[in-house]
Order: sequence, then structure tokens, then C-alpha cells
Amino acid sequence: MDQKRCAVASKETLMRIFTVPEAPDSTLSKIELEISSNLAGFLNENIAAIEKPLHEIEKDFQSAVIPEDPTFVSAYAQDIMEQLVAHSVHTAAPSFIGHMTSALPHFVLPLSKLMVGLNQNLVKIETSKAFTPLERQVLGMMHHLVYGQDEAFYSKWMHSAKTSLGAFCSGGTIANITALWIARNRLLKADGEFKGIAAEGIVSAMLHYGYRGLAVLVSERGHYSLGKAADLLGIGRDNFIAIKTADNNKVDVAAMRAKAHELEAQGIKVMAIVGVAGTTETGNIDPLDALAELSVE
Ligand SMILES: Cc1ncc(COP(=O)(O)O)c(C=O)c1O
Repeated sequence: MDQKRCAVASKETLMRIFTVPEAPDSTLSKIELEISSNLAGFLNENIAAIEKPLHEIEKDFQSAVIPEDPTFVSAYAQDIMEQLVAHSVHTAAPSFIGHMTSALPHFVLPLSKLMVGLNQNLVKIETSKAFTPLERQVLGMMHHLVYGQDEAFYSKWMHSAKTSLGAFCSGGTIANITALWIARNRLLKADGEFKGIAAEGIVSAMLHYGYRGLAVLVSERGHYSLGKAADLLGIGRDNFIAIKTADNNKVDVAAMRAKAHELEAQGIKVMAIVGVAGTTETGNIDPLDALAELSVE
């Protein structure tokens, strides 16, 4: 009878997974080799061409219990191939159209392996060293793209330990929350006895500044994550106001101006005007210069 080998969790096996690479003929090594040498072939061969309905796929993901017993890496890799990879989406297929996700240039694969191998933590210089200056340089480049300051500006601020020209985020939602958070805290900043919204909260801020509420204006094509940001920051989803678009799915600046005046007349402070630089559904860019002028008004 075939004696099934069982994986064992022990000091020795733990030591092994950190120090000994997977054998060249193991499932994972074969996957690695195939991905490196022929990614297109790997994707074509391993992602099932026949659609399996989601309720069928869910059957492989039923247990809510974390397994007590360990599994061999190779057995797990096999499961991943059959249950996960086979039923993933071939985003690199020439016939695939899906928002934001597409084929990747080939160099991303070895670079991603390098990143995982290095496993840096940019939250501290002692766990990332040169990655921090690189991060600051990339932020400087993005800042320059938008604000176009001179060389003296960047040599003063780009690598300053006390300031930052920007912040990397894990995605658009966090970027929107961060930007609106800064806008909120700059508008409702410390003033005399008032220590600022960050310290005293929104009720004290409204009382101090005498506003009946706050509003954020954005095109009707604005992403729904902005509503989430308004909710989290205490502005309220109802005060996140969608303005109709004019031609080409770009926000109607005249309609936005009219709404801003209407709100101001009601004692509601327009905290931010959001310009979309590429809407999710249509890719259109709002008239950013006109919106900048409106926000100065
Ligand atoms: C314009 C825009 N903003 C924000 C987001 C949210 O990004 P994320 O899913 O990375 O949080 C998206 C995502 O599609 C987007 O298209």
C-alpha cells in the first residue's frame, strides 16, 4: 500500500524552509522555471480556458478553520495551481480588456523577485537604507512633474529628514483619504485658542470657525472611494457633492462654481475641489487649470 508521507512541523523542518531551497524537480521549482522562461506559455497552459462558475470555485474554499496539521510546500503549490491559478484571470491575454490591469513588461518578474528577496521595510532607514533616498527622489520627480519647482527647491527639501514632498500609498483609496485629510486639517488648522481639528475634533472646529458644515465638490465621474474618505473624515457622504459633466465626461466647471457659491451662501465651507486626472470608467481628465482657478476664488 502507498504509505502517504505526512509533513511535520519541527525545529528542523522550520530551519529547512529558511535555509534549503526547494529541490530542482519540486513542483514549486518547476513553476518558477516555467514562469521565468516562458511566462506567456505558463499563463496559457495553466489558466483554465473553460469558465467555472464562482459557486463551483467557492467549494474549494469552504473551511473557516485554520488547518492544525502542516502541509508540504509542494502539495500546497499543487493545490494553488489547481484551485487558484487555474481559475484566475489571464489579464495578459491579447483579447483581455479590464480596467487598470494588463500584461506586465517582462522585467517586472525578476525585479519582483529581487524585491521579495530583499524584503526591505521603508518605514525605517535601518531596514531599507538606499531605498529611502530612492523613495524621496521618486516623490521629488512626481512633485516636479506637478509643481515644477527649481533645482534649489529640490536640493533643499527632497532629502530633508524633517519634511516630505509626498507620500506613497497602497492605492487610490488611501491616496484620496490622505489628500482630503490634509485639506481638512489645513482648512481647520490651529487658530488662537483653538488647537486645530486634528487635536479637538470636528465639532470644536465647526464651532470655532462658524461653519454649518463642510463640502467636497467633484465630478459625477469621481471614484466611489472619495465618498468613503468623506465618511471617514467626518465630512459626511451627503456633503460629498457630485457635479454633472459637460462634454467628454469632463466636469462642468460653471456648474461647480454655481454650486460652490450656493453652499457658501448656506454657511457650508467648500473644503476641497477634486479634479479627476483620468476617470475610472472613461479615462477623461477634468479641466484642472480651470478647477485650480476656481479653488483660488
Ligand atoms: C480614479 C480612481 N480613484 C481611486 C481608485 C481606488 O483605488 P484603489 O482600488 O487602489 O484603492 C480607483 C480604482 O479604480 C480609481 O480608478
